[in-house]
Parts: sequence; C-alpha cells; structure tokens
Amino acid sequence: MEKIKTLRGFRDIYGDEVEKFRYIEEISRKYLGLFGFKEIIIPVLENTGLFVRSIGDTTDIVEKEMFTFRDSGGDSVTLRPEATAGMVRAYLETGMYAKERISRLFSIGPMFRHERPQKGRYREFRQIDVEVFGIEAPIIDAELIWMISLMLRSMGMQGYTIEVNSVGCPECREGFKGLMMEYFNTRRDGLCEDCKRRLERNPLRIFDCKNPGCKEISSASPLLFDNLCDHCKTHFDEFLNYINEFGIQTNVNKRLVRGLDYYTRTVFEVVSGSLGAQNAFLAGGRYDHLVQSMGGPSVPGIGFAIGVDRLSLLLELPDSKNDTAIFLAYLGERAKRLIVPLMKLFSENHLRLSYLPEAKSLKSQMRYADSLGVDMALIIGDDEIDKGQVIVRDMVQGNQTILPLDQTSLVENLKGLFKR
Ligand code: HAM
Repeated sequence: MEKIKTLRGFRDIYGDEVEKFRYIEEISRKYLGLFGFKEIIIPVLENTGLFVRSIGDTTDIVEKEMFTFRDSGGDSVTLRPEATAGMVRAYLETGMYAKERISRLFSIGPMFRHERPQKGRYREFRQIDVEVFGIEAPIIDAELIWMISLMLRSMGMQGYTIEVNSVGCPECREGFKGLMMEYFNTRRDGLCEDCKRRLERNPLRIFDCKNPGCKEISSASPLLFDNLCDHCKTHFDEFLNYINEFGIQTNVNKRLVRGLDYYTRTVFEVVSGSLGAQNAFLAGGRYDHLVQSMGGPSVPGIGFAIGVDRLSLLLELPDSKNDTAIFLAYLGERAKRLIVPLMKLFSENHLRLSYLPEAKSLKSQMRYADSLGVDMALIIGDDEIDKGQVIVRDMVQGNQTILPLDQTSLVENLKGLFKR
C-alpha cells in the first residue's frame, strides 16, 4: 500500500527542534510578560476578505500564497498567512479598543503560505506575533526593538543585524508616486509581467519583486526614504534618537520593503547571514491606518512577528536542564512488582524514573539505560530484595554504591548521592 506522507512544505517537528521551539517560546513569553503583553488566541481560519483587505490584493501573499477554499456552506475561507489581520479583527470584535487606551497583545501559532519550500521556508510555519495598539509616539517603536534585543540576547543569539527603514505615510507615497512612475515607465520593458501590472495598480510593490530584472531596475530607483513628508521624517529621526538612547545597534536600510501593504512609517527586519536566501527571522513595523481601514476608529498600531522555524535554525540549545534521570533495572518477578511503588515514589518527588517493560536480561536493560542517557541506574533482583538493598550505579562515573531499599529514605539518599 502506498504510504501517506505530509503535504509539500508541511512537516513534523520533533526531537531537538521541538525543544528549541519551546525554548524560544519560553524566553519570549518571559519578556512579553515583563513588557506588559497579554496573550490572545485567535482563529487559524478566517474569512478570505479579512486578508485581502488588510494585507493588500496586489501583494504576493494575497495574489499567490493563500490557502483559500470554499467551506461546505459555500463561504470563501483562508488559513491565516499571518496574524496581524486577525489581531486587528479581534481587537475590534472584542471591543478592546473601547475599553483600554493602549492594548499590548501577543499570539502564538501556525501560519500558512503556499510558497516554494526551501531552507527556512515552509508552507506551515510558526510565529510569535506581537502587537501594540494605541501609541503613535516613536518611543514604542524603539521600546519594541529593545525588547527584541533582550529576548535574542537571552536566547544566546549572535551575529544578526536589525535593519530599519521608514516607508512613510499615504501622503508621502502620493507625492513620491509621480517620481517613481516616471522612473519605472521609462524602464517598463525590463519589468516582469507582474510588475507591469503593479505599475498601474500599486507601483510600490515593484520594490518587493524577486525577479532579477526587476530587482536590478529598482536598485537604482529614487527612494521613498529620501522623499518622506516632514511628519514622517521627524517620526523616524525621533525613533533613531530613542534607539541611540537604548544603545541598540541598528542599520538604516533605505531599500527595506515589506511584503504587506498595511505598513506605514517604521519597518524593521532582523536578519542573519547564516540563513541563506530566507534571511529574516523576525520582522514587523507600524500600521497606523489599518485599524481604521478595517472599520474601526483611528488607532495607530505597531508590531512584529518572530519566525520561530527560522530562529530555531540559528539557535543552540543550552545544556539540558539538570533534572536527574533514574533507570530501574529489575531481575525477576518480585523486583518487577517494585516498578509501581517506585514510580509513585519518584514521580511524586519530581524525579524521572524510566524502565524497560518486558525486559529480558540485565544486559539489555543497561544498554537501554545507556541509550537514554540517564544519570543513574537502580539494580534490584531477588538477592537485593532479601537483603533490603538496592545497587545504585552512577552511569556517568561507572561506580556502584549500595543503599537501603527503604521508601522513606531512598529519595533523600539518592539526591544526596547525585548532588554533583
Ligand atoms: P512577515 O515578514 O511576512 O511579517 O513574517 C514575519 C516572519 O515570519 C518572517 O521574518 C519569517 O521569519 C517568518 N516567515 C514568513 N514566511 C515564512 C515561511 N514561509 N516559512 C517560515 N517562516 C516564515 C508578518 O507576518 C507580519 N504580520 C509581522 C507583523 C506583526 N507586522 C506587524 N505586526
């Protein structure tokens, strides 16, 4: 029979990788708590319209990458390609906007994009998504980047760059449009078919095109950064001042563009040289008009998402936690009857006890204990039971000790023995 496999771009996450996911999540949660963020769990499946309206109908995500289908009721639904759209919807739908002046929210979960799979790029991937609603002042932009650098430091991350830019507001874009149209119109023939269309509908998206010809043309184009309106320019300068005050190293990359339409003003990406083509493992920015464009009041927003799958490719796990692992090797039926009482005793005292059910020989049990990497093995046979003893083998040093087989003192004795 043909084996059923995972879909292309989907995968099982296990072993060290799952430990890294937990590690990233644990540290992120710690800092998110410290900075006053509250968790929210939002649906994975939403109305397609939510993403079309927020991310933009000329973006790659909406044009090519969404998992969209009709449900049995005939409605068009989409597996979320990112979380910001759903966070804004939830912020409005729960009425949070009316209850608090500032909302700091985060959400963790899988996202889905029908992209061409490669290293660090999957069709299902996990994000830690972080959003702040209600602050226009650029101090929050810098505060978020400070929090990010603390998180990354705590994870032991090195060798990354924080790239920042401003993509302005609709006003500066309107002013810039003429300049940009003139530049691209005279080079129209060199653009791909998609970009020729973009030129009519949403010329800024040309900067996001991966086609080598388009990339080359846009690399010499005039820059929106050099044409920001006074408000946006001041906002960005103040942001950079705060960044300096925090003492964070960032790199202003005037050509940094984001693949989603909702961004205004500050945008940023954290990139690593060792990731290859998919080099951003964290990205975000400000979206001051998104809440309003989704039917809400005029509330500014800013946020980012950690790409957990990519970050885990870069991380080394710290030495595993120091909880002592114990193995029980038993010989004969009487010793086997000790599995349950010892399991109860050890687990109630937060000690991990493993054993080999249906074990045949001592040798096979010790081989199994070795493969588990346990700290010590308890060896009990008829002889030990008769004498009221247990043999304790230190699996790291190789030496053996004998302890009384006594439920009241055994745990304390073992803990004393293995205080390294
Ligand atoms: P994004 O840049 O599309 O932004 O995604 C954020 C991060 O998710 C990327 O930097 C990357 O690490 C990871 N990522 C994206 N696509 C994939 C993929 N196919 N496979 C693996 N990892 C991937 C957003 O999603 C925005 N919603 C971030 C945001 C929040 N902006 C404001 N608030």
